[in-house]
Amino acid sequence: MGDIVSDIKDRLDISDVVSQYVQLKRAGHNFKGLCPFHSEKTPSFVVSPEKQICHCFGCNKGGDIFGFIQEVEGVTFAEAIKILADRAGLKIETSDKAFKKEGKTEKDEYYAAHELACEFFEKQLLSTNDGKKVLEYLYSRGVKDETIKEFRIGFSPDSYDALHTELLKSGVKKDVLIKSGFVSVKNISSDQIFDKFRMRLMFPIFDSFGRICGFGGRALQADQMPKYLNSPEDVIYSKSKVLYGFSHAKKYIKEANSVVFVEGYFDVIMPYQEGVKNIVATSGTALTKEQAKMMSRVTKNAVTSFDTDNAGFEATRRAYEILQLEGFNVKTVFAFDKKDPADYVKENGGNAFKDAVLGAKDFISFYMDRLIKDFDVATFDGRKNVMSLLMPFYKVMTPTDRDFYVKDLAGKISMGEKVLYDEIDSYKLPKDHPARQSFQENSSGDVSVKKFEIGVSEIIIGIIFGYYHLFSEISAVLSEDDFEEDFKNIYKECLNQYNSTRIQAGKWDFESEVFGRLKADISVYVLYVEDKYQDFSDVAMTLEVKKLVDKTRQSRRTNALKFVQNKIKEAEKAQDKEALLKLLQEQQILLSK
Ligand code: UTP
Ligand code: MN
Repeated sequence: MGDIVSDIKDRLDISDVVSQYVQLKRAGHNFKGLCPFHSEKTPSFVVSPEKQICHCFGCNKGGDIFGFIQEVEGVTFAEAIKILADRAGLKIETSDKAFKKEGKTEKDEYYAAHELACEFFEKQLLSTNDGKKVLEYLYSRGVKDETIKEFRIGFSPDSYDALHTELLKSGVKKDVLIKSGFVSVKNISSDQIFDKFRMRLMFPIFDSFGRICGFGGRALQADQMPKYLNSPEDVIYSKSKVLYGFSHAKKYIKEANSVVFVEGYFDVIMPYQEGVKNIVATSGTALTKEQAKMMSRVTKNAVTSFDTDNAGFEATRRAYEILQLEGFNVKTVFAFDKKDPADYVKENGGNAFKDAVLGAKDFISFYMDRLIKDFDVATFDGRKNVMSLLMPFYKVMTPTDRDFYVKDLAGKISMGEKVLYDEIDSYKLPKDHPARQSFQENSSGDVSVKKFEIGVSEIIIGIIFGYYHLFSEISAVLSEDDFEEDFKNIYKECLNQYNSTRIQAGKWDFESEVFGRLKADISVYVLYVEDKYQDFSDVAMTLEVKKLVDKTRQSRRTNALKFVQNKIKEAEKAQDKEALLKLLQEQQILLSK
């Protein structure tokens, strides 16, 4: 049996894997896109189908398909293998070495427990008497059988032990039951446990791969509190990272190149059922930066459709601030006369909702109009309020947007544009504004967003390895001393190989000890060079090497000169004539070079 890692590599292409997360554009031999690991406006994330690697020259993260999945999904190597094997349509044999090394992970136990719980809740909904009543309730809200099946909606019975008895029997550990929030411990002294989800409509929450990582249980009786009981965070569930419906909606979001954000579970499943399938929910909490980032890998066009109450309005404004920072184009639907999307769809059908989404206003226009309506702009106070509420938005806009919206507002409340610009200039964003927070994060020395410096030595090594056929021209202008210490050996090995008979092969021999260790690094340098010098001819490339070498020699000389001149000053101060004489000679040599 072959090794699973190489089987996966044979079947999957890195650009296909990456393009599920990043919109890639062709750039010479390679592809390029916005880095999924840090925020950026100009792409520095390069993918090489030839080398089957990717690398971000902004934050220095990357690797092969396994490394990419580990980083982007935040999983271990073993989990990355599973994810990719699945995608490649390969079965993992448990005897497989690479997989066995890490074996079943803690997370696997949690996923298994959630899957079993989901099956249990589904069964309760479809084949018990109480379940039938709940099914009737779902029908009364317009939910169809196919939707129940697709979103795996279930029912937790009115029992303190039905679920955990079943799960314990299936081999789920008690500790997992407790940490997943399926059960509570009765009191500290006893180890008796009881089910927490009782008499609730159960929505499984799926992670981006469609694995169940939590539940939201809706109350079914009037006096039942809370309205939704949600799973606590555990090793597989992080609220701020999950968007309800994402695994179902992903391909439709990509197709439509836009996503609709709503608040609740029903608000996802009803429009989805009626044909608006590019839809996800924040599940009642504020949209987070992580959620926006995850979405930004699929589309940069968002429409928010939150509840029309004040809380929903506030959520709309905050979601805009977060999405805008991640580079989204944000529109807003806010016109369902006090109805949430689920009820609106039930009453007016999917097409009416689709039309509303298509006709959504861009957020700033929506917000501006709403403020003008809410405040009396004929009065001094009214204008002041409108202005001060709009300031944070003006402050972070692109100049083009600002120009448009300054004209817009100035016209609407008849005010001079210059006055508005003056106000914007003197306005300072509050400390807790997301734009300021992300700025602070970026400048706090977090390595993941530090600019990756590729030096001249790295570039020249990249050129040598990327353009084997130019080596004789390149080596003619180079000397070993042009390289930083670490690279001298690589260059020496290149010379050896090139001049020995072995090399008539026309390519570098990576089995050699010196290269082997550095293979991954060298690939990244080549990738950098391929990207930087995409349209260079061979002649231009050789000239570039010469230019780079001249530049390093020049800067070495300047540095050496500075060093000597400092020493000269010291020697003068100390009146050390002997040393001074020597130093002046050194200076003379450097100056004459
Ligand atoms: P809503 O109260 O708007 O509920 O909360 P809903 O989804 O529209 O449900 P129906 O239509 O009344 O049956 C919106 C979302 O907020 C979260 C849930 O994710 C819910 O879907 N929520 C709400 C909670 O987590 N806990 C709560 O107690 C209430
Ligand atoms: Mn609702």
